[in-house]
Amino acid sequence: MRSDTILVVDDEKLIRWSLRQHLQNESFSVLEAETVKMGLDRVSEFEPDLIILDQGLPDGTGIEFIQKLKEMSYEIPIIMLSAVDSSNIAVQAMKLGALDYITKPINFEELKIIVEKALESIRLKRQISHLREEQKKQFGNLAIIGDSPVMKKLFTMMTKIAASDSSTVLVTGESGVGKELVVRSIHMLSQRKDKCFMAVTCASLSESLIESELFGHQKGAFTDAKNLKKGMFEIADGGTIFLDEIGDISPNLQVKLLRVLDQKSFKRVGGTSEISVDVRIITATNQPLEQKVAEGKFRADLFYRLNVVHLHVPPLRERGKDVLILAQFFIQEFNKAFRKNFKGLTEETKEAFLSYRWQGNVRELKNVIERAVLLEEGDYIFSRPIEVGHLNTLSNKASTGSYTSGKDLTFGEMEKNAVLEALSKTSFNQSRAARLLQISRDQLRYKMKKYGIHNRIETDDS
Ligand SMILES: Nc1ncnc2c1ncn2[C@@H]1O[C@H](COP(=O)(O)OP(=O)(O)OP(=O)(O)O)[C@@H](O)[C@H]1O
Ligand SMILES: [Mg+2]
Repeated sequence: MRSDTILVVDDEKLIRWSLRQHLQNESFSVLEAETVKMGLDRVSEFEPDLIILDQGLPDGTGIEFIQKLKEMSYEIPIIMLSAVDSSNIAVQAMKLGALDYITKPINFEELKIIVEKALESIRLKRQISHLREEQKKQFGNLAIIGDSPVMKKLFTMMTKIAASDSSTVLVTGESGVGKELVVRSIHMLSQRKDKCFMAVTCASLSESLIESELFGHQKGAFTDAKNLKKGMFEIADGGTIFLDEIGDISPNLQVKLLRVLDQKSFKRVGGTSEISVDVRIITATNQPLEQKVAEGKFRADLFYRLNVVHLHVPPLRERGKDVLILAQFFIQEFNKAFRKNFKGLTEETKEAFLSYRWQGNVRELKNVIERAVLLEEGDYIFSRPIEVGHLNTLSNKASTGSYTSGKDLTFGEMEKNAVLEALSKTSFNQSRAARLLQISRDQLRYKMKKYGIHNRIETDDS
């Protein structure tokens, strides 16, 4: 028995009855209400997981119901029931936050799909806000999203590392996996959190510049040294220094770093006195440092000093459904930034995302979602199957979608296949096929015409 409760608000007894039959068959618990007032009472009493709402009720409209629900600050997904000729009201309702609508007479197949989708999207949302809360307790305002076993293990390690206050940490992982986020979180979790966190990307600066960045310089130490400058080690006293891309530092700097690690003190460039500091050093790299050591490009003694604790951040493709949770998280973030109202991913996109290799890891996913939220229109990403097909073509792993699996297909062919598959899945019911594809019926008709697809229902029936 599943625990999801659905509230049906409709004044027509017959509709309530038939909805109850179908939903109970799918093992949902069903509540009924005939009026706006009764509906709101049911909500405050039972907090249902989903509401199916009619537009015209004896004591008000569905829109009014949604507005009242908002005033009471409930966030329950709503599916509107709409007469075919009043779909503009449904659109208005969706602008107010209704998740979807279905036209009367109700097609129960379609309803089932929409209900499942709505419940899943709310489940994901809850999971994210729950994770966010947990993360806030743990990591302050930095959101490291992850619910997979590998990430949970990482979080546990991070907490332990943060507590053992002074050891150096080496963070490894492919590009874009979130190494910097992990490092910042360790700082925030530690007792050093109120002191400075300083980050330097070793590869981006010349050797002499890095040196004066890290250790500072006396006035007149070199031509451009017009004033005394404090280096990061001095500024970060009591805090944390993050040396990113540590594999790229020069042999000379390797020696200096080793010295700071051993003696916990250093001299400014051009300076003579030793300055003592208490700084935790965390380094990161996406290159195999052991190999560099073996090749003689990185000092073995420094490597062992940096690698006291090793933290490996797993690639995104090893995190299972975290991809979907992260995608939903980024959709919410970019919705806010771009004032959009995307509700989630289409089923096809989810499949594609789960099988895609994500060589650029979380950064790549974030960029893909940002672009989609900015450029796409509609409720679900990607509304056009062609985009998903494109993603699968890029994927270097076999795709799972049946119509997007051909790697050598052109976009046009993939789109045609998608249209055909949607039509055959729905026995050539154009409204349902359009819905499956997340496009309008007009767009579907246009594509059918473009690809010479005829509506077989008409010919079969004649
Ligand atoms: N688990 C996560 N939850 C939320 N956002 C994440 C997560 N992991 C990474 N990100 C985001 O992805 C982007 C890349 O992360 P980050 O810069 O930490 O990766 P990196 O491993 O340091 O990459 P590089 O190797 O290229 O330096 C950032 O915008 C970061 O906020
Ligand atoms: Mg980084």
